Amino acid sequence: MSTFQPVRGMRDLLPDETEIFRYLITQATKNAQLYGFKEVITPVVEPYELLSAKSGEEIRQRMFTFKDLGDRTVALRPEFTASIARLVTTTLKNEPKPLRLFSVGSVYRYDEPQKGRYREFWQANFELIGSAKPEADAEIILLTNSMMKKTGLTNYAIKLGHVGTLKGILTQEGVDDKTQNAVLQRMDKKDYNAALALVSSEKCRNKLQELIELKSNNPFDTVEQMKAHVKDYEKATAAVENLATILKIVTDCGCEIKTVDPAFARGLEYYTGMIFEVYIPQLDIALGGGGRYDKLIEVFGGEPTPAVGVAYGLDRMALAIQTQKITLHKEEIKRVAVLTIKDEQKSEALKIAQMLREAGIAVEFEVMGRKTAKALEFADKHQVDYAVIVGERELKVGKVVLKDFKQRQQTEVALTELATKIKA
Ligand code: HAM
Repeated sequence: MSTFQPVRGMRDLLPDETEIFRYLITQATKNAQLYGFKEVITPVVEPYELLSAKSGEEIRQRMFTFKDLGDRTVALRPEFTASIARLVTTTLKNEPKPLRLFSVGSVYRYDEPQKGRYREFWQANFELIGSAKPEADAEIILLTNSMMKKTGLTNYAIKLGHVGTLKGILTQEGVDDKTQNAVLQRMDKKDYNAALALVSSEKCRNKLQELIELKSNNPFDTVEQMKAHVKDYEKATAAVENLATILKIVTDCGCEIKTVDPAFARGLEYYTGMIFEVYIPQLDIALGGGGRYDKLIEVFGGEPTPAVGVAYGLDRMALAIQTQKITLHKEEIKRVAVLTIKDEQKSEALKIAQMLREAGIAVEFEVMGRKTAKALEFADKHQVDYAVIVGERELKVGKVVLKDFKQRQQTEVALTELATKIKA
């Protein structure tokens, strides 16, 4: 027996799980169409410099980085946003805005493996490029709500925040960019003590501490409290007002926001505005997350271009679907096994199989050369709906035997009526 196993943190997706992945990809693709997003496929391997530019310390340290044979330092993409920003500064730079781009595929991070956390995982990613308006932020949140609903998930919640609140305070208090990023990284991990320890000004520490402690059950109340709290900070005030506008738009559109978290931060460094996450409270895992990043495209050498986006973790959505025992809405197609009694009818039987497939019926042709009884037993065990048994005598009069596994009965059926009878 082979002792080879997948690399740690990577896994094989077997048919049941792959079916859920395909279902999620179909739902994501339908949503992309409904919201006007066009799909693009970008490379899995990208220049290290591109992926590391603004992703943040945590992601940088967890990239699968290597030298290719041409001595270039490259890495497996840990997300899609950098690749899309690259595309927007190069091939798509003259495209009229807004640009709405959708991608789906595997991404790689050297995370510590655990339930719902892998080193190879899949994301469905959406980027809306070219608008700084709160309606664009709202679209991304509404798209998220629609994505969750379409897949049948129920127990999810959306958490909203704004990096401009924390950054506005830190900037006004003279904290440099590098320290700000380090503070936000720790805030993301909810390691508030470590975050505050990096700030030398006591006034600033106190302000942040108060923000962390703000509590309310209603997102609108939280925003009001935040406004009062940051009133002496010009940029932070503008951030909270922007957050209030986005909250109102999405709520008016029927999308419930569970919480506004005043001390919310996300691991990625490129965010400049609204940030959010969709999560399952019972499982305490994020199914997706995103936000506004107005400076990234400029960092990559493009024109200043505002942008906002989101990515959903398909592995985690699949986990939630399994945990919530959601039935997938899938198109039912009948499955049929086609077999012969004698070898002489094989070529005729193959033609019949082809005819059935053309009529939209799934056919598993008997390719093992088993005796009829064994082939029927196998077909029954594998839960096909019918067996089509092609015999010499029936074929002479243009018929075959159709065995119905559910009804446990068999009849002779004319070839001209076979597909209709199976589909009925
Ligand atoms: P992110 O929050 O790093 O955002 O990842 C998005 C989602 O990917 C997470 O919410 C989670 O469901 C899934 N995910 C992250 N790490 C793992 C892992 N190790 N195993 C399984 N699933 C994981 C981004 O990637 C941003 N690029 C989103 C974005 C797009 N922001 C703007 N545009």
